[in-house]
Amino acid sequence: MIVDRADFPLLASNPELHYLDSAATSQKPRVVLDAVLQYYEHDNANPHRGAYALSARATQRYHDARERIARFVGVRDAARLIFTRGTTESLNLVATAWGRANVSRGDQIVVTGLEHHANFVPWQQLALDVGATLAIAKLTDDGRVDVDHFASLMTARTRVVAFNHVSNALGTINPVAELSAIARRVGAVVVCDGAQAAPHLPLAIDDMDVDFYAFSGHKMLGPMGCGVLIGRRELLERMPPYQTGGDMIEFVSDERSTWNVLPHKFEAGTPNVADAVGLAAACEYLDRVGMRTIRDHEQTLTALATRKLCAIPDVRVYGPAPALRSGVVSFTVGDIHPHDLSTILDESGVCIRAGHHCAQPLMRRLNLPATARASFYIYNNGADVDALVDGVDRAREIFGA
Ligand code: ALA
Repeated sequence: MIVDRADFPLLASNPELHYLDSAATSQKPRVVLDAVLQYYEHDNANPHRGAYALSARATQRYHDARERIARFVGVRDAARLIFTRGTTESLNLVATAWGRANVSRGDQIVVTGLEHHANFVPWQQLALDVGATLAIAKLTDDGRVDVDHFASLMTARTRVVAFNHVSNALGTINPVAELSAIARRVGAVVVCDGAQAAPHLPLAIDDMDVDFYAFSGHKMLGPMGCGVLIGRRELLERMPPYQTGGDMIEFVSDERSTWNVLPHKFEAGTPNVADAVGLAAACEYLDRVGMRTIRDHEQTLTALATRKLCAIPDVRVYGPAPALRSGVVSFTVGDIHPHDLSTILDESGVCIRAGHHCAQPLMRRLNLPATARASFYIYNNGADVDALVDGVDRAREIFGA
């Protein structure tokens, strides 16, 4: 544990809980909860609309939150940071607004077999709707993108390549620079799903050769329902809006409308200011801990859990070696169904996720219906690993393994 568990009210009031499902959502520190409450108690008004001081304050809080989050992920031009409800909405925004304007019949979209449904289904549906083809890069046996196969898919008609930075199901850390360079050779737009990376790795998005990068606040100590899309300015300016309505327009005549400047063009309606403020407080907290420290801590726990689990007969851990994974350990125990395993672990206060992890194409490739997944974060420690391992031992006894 590299933070004080007392910082997290839910963990503090549940001392026996071993929360190992942060890849699904993280717990929230008091400073984030306070920031949201403080906004509502002191600064709440509809931003960008009122000519009174309170509304100006709300506008300023929203602006400051955008700048703070942009700084956290290494983006200098904060106007290219669009607030969304989360990664899913960010990726749907790109596939819909950019995709429909730029992908046509006969074009190709490339994704990988490692994708979360949020970075798979929007592209699949775009391909079906416009008559494009969807090509899926193969994986190596240890759950990495097969870079040679990925490269072999590129054609002159490849318009967009979409892949995750870190796999939610296996924890695989993808070689973003290498994949982007391959996509660039054919002039494809690069979309990166960073939902499992932004909470865990130091990021400098300005230095990454990607056109769109998406992540969610709730997996990185922030509130639910607030996420981010970073886009390349030229692309955001050229593409049509995703949703239309208030705040995103410049001028509305009876016949047509023109669009507001970035970022407002992509933020129709009343924005979620309070949760943006909460996410900015989360970035502040994470920066204080240090993203390098967080990465090292998670790597230690992942290696420890992998080693201890692999010492148990019938346990199989999926994905590459711990050094190539984030804080995720995806595993099966003989023929015990991961849902049963999860239920038994829950009896000892160990929370893990079991299922297909919103990655059915990956599960088909692994020839598995489901895995059990433990995922670590800053408030976990060796005692959580021990509780997980003890729970697996208990499940094996119960099932007579
Ligand atoms: N995408 C989240 C997960 O992997 C919900 O659990």
